[in-house]
Amino acid sequence: MINLSLVNGKSNILKKRFRLAHGKIKRLKREILTTAFVGIAACFSLHAHEDWQPTEQSQKEIHRPTPIPERVVLTWEGNPSTSQSVTWRTDTSVKKGLAQIAKANSSGRELKPATFDATTSFFKSDLNEAHYHSVTFQSLYPDTLYVYRVGDGANWSEYYHFKTASDQPRPFSFIYFGDAQNEVRTHWSRVFREAFRDAPRAAFTLHAGDLIDVNSSDAEWGEWHQGPDWVNGTIPVIATPGNHEYRRINQGPEAERFWSTKEGQAIEILVTSFKKESRENKTIYAVSYMGPKGKTGYFEINDGGNLVLVDKTMESLTGFDEDELLGSSVYASPLFDRQRQPGVPKVSKHWRNQFVYPIQDVPNESLKETVYFVDYQGVRIISMDSNKDLDLQVPWLRRALQANPNRWTIVTFHHPIFSPGSDRDNKELRRLWKPLLDEYRVDLVLSGHDHTYARTGKVDPNNIENVPTGYQQAYDPEIGTVYVVSVSGPKMYSITKGSFAKRVAENTQLYQIINVSEKELEFRAYKATGEMYDKFTLQKREGKPNLLIEALTSEIKK
Ligand SMILES: [Fe+2]
Repeated sequence: MINLSLVNGKSNILKKRFRLAHGKIKRLKREILTTAFVGIAACFSLHAHEDWQPTEQSQKEIHRPTPIPERVVLTWEGNPSTSQSVTWRTDTSVKKGLAQIAKANSSGRELKPATFDATTSFFKSDLNEAHYHSVTFQSLYPDTLYVYRVGDGANWSEYYHFKTASDQPRPFSFIYFGDAQNEVRTHWSRVFREAFRDAPRAAFTLHAGDLIDVNSSDAEWGEWHQGPDWVNGTIPVIATPGNHEYRRINQGPEAERFWSTKEGQAIEILVTSFKKESRENKTIYAVSYMGPKGKTGYFEINDGGNLVLVDKTMESLTGFDEDELLGSSVYASPLFDRQRQPGVPKVSKHWRNQFVYPIQDVPNESLKETVYFVDYQGVRIISMDSNKDLDLQVPWLRRALQANPNRWTIVTFHHPIFSPGSDRDNKELRRLWKPLLDEYRVDLVLSGHDHTYARTGKVDPNNIENVPTGYQQAYDPEIGTVYVVSVSGPKMYSITKGSFAKRVAENTQLYQIINVSEKELEFRAYKATGEMYDKFTLQKREGKPNLLIEALTSEIKK
């Protein structure tokens, strides 16, 4: 019995095992069937989505403000060793902005931040209505790490870090960008981020104008903030405005133009048609016009503004022949095409709402926060506005250079003193500002605008062409100033006048990292991919101009 029961017991166990195994097989079958069904369904669903087309999200939706702080950006309106300004944007439901700050610690929940009210202003852009909020933290300790956040009391940003400058000259680095301007999200973000990876402890980023293409485009400004993202909330921004940050007010119709004639007169031209065409991957503008006495004609310019086709009417109206006209910029010699009522330039309304800069007794209201200087650990960084009132800025620049206790001086403005484009010369800048840059032996001038790279240095004097009249070469060792033009965005022009420069580049997006210490300034330019493209060092010498030391060829890429 016992045995039998054992047998029976075993038999029961076997039966149970069989039932279990059978159950597993059934489950397995079910799983296989389910998988097969899902597979078939997936095939069906793929099949069903074949004619699906993606929908582009509207710019209005992408850049819609919310109660959550965004476009957070640090700038300085005061002394970087004792103050820090921050600006951010929300929707208009946030009536009052707040900012909290404390010395940074390593245990976030123990922070006991002080709270400050923001200045809030209403802003209507081409896409939306928003509130901009701004706070300047003051009476801070030098050389100290702080945490801060911004919000409205219910909705807060994350805590960001920033570090105040030392109140003494100390070594530091900063990053310089030429024009970002076009397809900023698509093609500029990676350049910014590569630069940040190379200099994560940079004291500030410097932007030499044309941060965007259309001054009033909220979407473009949104893209400019999105590339750096949280980095703008940690590393302050020094920016100078370019021509694309400007709009014109009281402007006449764009079609009403003046041209200069060989006899030195101005004739009235009416543009009757202006068409953008693409030919062999190049952009051409086809222009029909009517001149005096109803004479009609036709010409073409490329995307750099140079005449590539002219007609007999243009020759007879102006007195210039085809040889004199072809290849020249329509906006420069000999035609000097210009609007009859060009209007008054006015900086984008985005500028002063999002950037807070020092106001230092500038010549007029319109130059506030575009013309300023910031002193950082032994360096004076001066922003000039090369878009307007160049003559009015001269006495201001003299004062800024004269009363300068810093060892180093770096000046930034958008239009270059020496242009690598033969049709893009800025004579007025050389006439009005260069004498002062020479007199005070400014160390470095950082510009953009020309969508190429050109950096001055000592070049073979027997091999210089097209240097602007009056200059043997752009670099003068008796003065020592180095001038740089660079570009960080994807729009590119050609170099037609680069022999004055020690190093040039076309079709290359770049960023620059500059290290400054008491005795040396080391400048390095990198391609978007992170390869070093240019390097030089300036050595300070008592009572003498800087010594410019070129990098070894082996240090930089050909
Ligand atoms: Fe520009």
